This record gives sequence, structure tokens and C-alpha cells, in this order.
Amino acid sequence: MTDSRTDAAAEFDLGAFLERERERINAVLNGVAPTLAEGAPAALREPVLYALATPGKRLRPILCVSAWRVVHPGETPDAVYRLACALEIVHTYSLVHDDLPCMDDDALRRGRPTVHVTFTPGAALLAGAALIPAAVRVMDDAAREMELDAPARGRLAAELCRAGGALGMVGGQLLDLEGEASGTVDADGLERIHRHKTGALLAASLRIGALAAGVDDARLEALTEYGRELGLAFQIVDDVLDVTASDDALGKTPGKDAEAGKATYPSLFGLDGAREMARQRVSRALDALRRGGIRSPELEALAAFVLERDR
Ligand code: IPE
Ligand code: IPE
Ligand code: MG
Ligand code: MG
Ligand code: MG
Repeated sequence: MTDSRTDAAAEFDLGAFLERERERINAVLNGVAPTLAEGAPAALREPVLYALATPGKRLRPILCVSAWRVVHPGETPDAVYRLACALEIVHTYSLVHDDLPCMDDDALRRGRPTVHVTFTPGAALLAGAALIPAAVRVMDDAAREMELDAPARGRLAAELCRAGGALGMVGGQLLDLEGEASGTVDADGLERIHRHKTGALLAASLRIGALAAGVDDARLEALTEYGRELGLAFQIVDDVLDVTASDDALGKTPGKDAEAGKATYPSLFGLDGAREMARQRVSRALDALRRGGIRSPELEALAAFVLERDR
């Protein structure tokens, strides 16, 4: 895969970039978090704050700001980071619900006890639900700060809702549950699950950053394709790590997919087969950037990160 990256991307300091971006995202997220459940009962406020404070990789907001920089290279205003935090808030809600006993029933997330274990399943359900409108509000506030007009702000909200909803992440989660129950998921079915439960929000992260920046149609199309392929690769690697990683490295309990009898890329294609398919998807993601004439060392390096990550 290194052969399909540009020289600039090969020299890019990914570690320093990720650290810098995460620090800035965390600062902005910590700033907005207390406002999200302000005035709500402590039994709701506390799990909301707990969920948002857990240390995730922050990949979705990073993709969002990187897409913005495709259009406006250089210094990025705080409002763009606030906009990007909306993606992390929706993602966080999806994890809180994914871990519930009625879904994957996980006790460990980001190295900490899951929200329903620390509080109660009811509190986790409602804290997750509260994060959805909170994300839309954070996004709209940021878009106003960026002086986007009402149609542009409406489009961003529609993008977030579509990717997070029945035709995106939530629909994928339902297919995932159905697949687990039936035990008859084939290769096409599994690709569909992964594209929906994970790919949709990843692609939307890029689209929202690019749309907020006023991107042209050709580059929007290229970034969307990059996001879809990267999203599929990301979930394939998540499946691989569930088999190969330790809970210390992963911050969540490994081996859960096999225990639940879930169809995954390693269960259908073996570990090497799954790794090779992830590489192919990342290579397609990079091709999409090239075809769209997009030179972004950060997006190229993030594609490599998706394959190389250990958590
Ligand atoms: C986990 O996402 C859920 C999937 C979609 C695979 P991440 O691996 O991005 O989790 P965090 O946000 O870094 O914890
Ligand atoms: C979750 O996929 C995708 C979501 C929409 C949250 P997984 O169930 O594989 O994610 P992990 O492994 O629990 O993080
Ligand atoms: Mg799941
Ligand atoms: Mg899970
Ligand atoms: Mg997983």
C-alpha cells in the first residue's frame, strides 16, 4: 500500500499529527460536553459526561477537519473542530448503545467499564439517546459560527441524520443483530453490514467537513468514495483486532465476535484473507483521492493508520 501513497504522505509524521489533532478535539469536546445535558437530572447528566470523556481515537472528527482542509489548507478555526465534534458525539452514542446487554453486551470500552455497567442499562439507553439531538445542536451552532446560511446548515444536519439513521449506522446495527441471530451471513451480506454500521458515518465525517468548506461536486464525490472504502477497511480491521489484540491494547474485550458467533471478515476469509481485503479497500480509498485530484498527506496517512492501528 505504501507504493500508492505520495512521497509527501510517506514523510508525514502521523504520530505527531494524531496527537495534535486529538488534543485539539478533546479540548473542544470538553468545552461543549458540560453544555449538552446542562439542567438535566444528574442521573442523565453523569452518564452523558462519562461517555464523552472516555479516550477514543477521535478518527471521525479528525477525518472531518482533514476534509475541510482539502478546501482550505492551513490554519483551521475552532468552529471547524466544534463541527467535527458532532461526529464524535454521534459515534459515542452508537458505542454506548452497541455495548448494551441487548446488543453486544460488552463490559469494557476505551479501557473503562461501559456506561451501562457504571450506571444502569436504562441510564445508558437514555444518555445515548440524549446525545443524538445534542450532536445536531453542536453542529448547527458551529455552522452558524462559520456563517453558513440556513440551506447549508440544513444540508449538514441532513447528512448527519441520514448517515446515523435507518439508512446508515442504525440500519447496519439491525442487520448485524439479525445476522448474529440467523448465522447465515455471506460475503455480500457482511459487506453490507459493515458499510452501513461503520462506513456510513465515516463517509459522512468527510462529507460534512468538505460541505462546510464549500467543496465542489467532483472533490465531494472523491472524498465520499475515499470515506466509504476507508470505512469498510476500518471495520474489517476492527474484526481482525477482535481476534488478534489484547484487551490492554484494545481497550475493549477481545474475542467477543467469535463468542457471539458473529460473521466477521476473519470468520469468512481467515485472518490473512481479511487483512488482504482491508489493504485492497485502503488502496481503493487512495485511488479515489488521486482520481479526484486531491493531494492530502493527512488523508493519505490516515488511510495507512487504519491498517496499522493496534486498537
Ligand atoms: C469502534 O470505533 C466501533 C467501530 C465502528 C468499529 P473506533 O475504533 O473508532 O472506537 P474509538 O472511538 O476509537 O473508541
Ligand atoms: C460497532 O461494531 C459499530 C457501531 C456502529 C458502534 P462493533 O460492535 O464491531 O464495534 P466494537 O468492536 O464493539 O467497538
Ligand atoms: Mg456491534
Ligand atoms: Mg460491539
Ligand atoms: Mg468489533
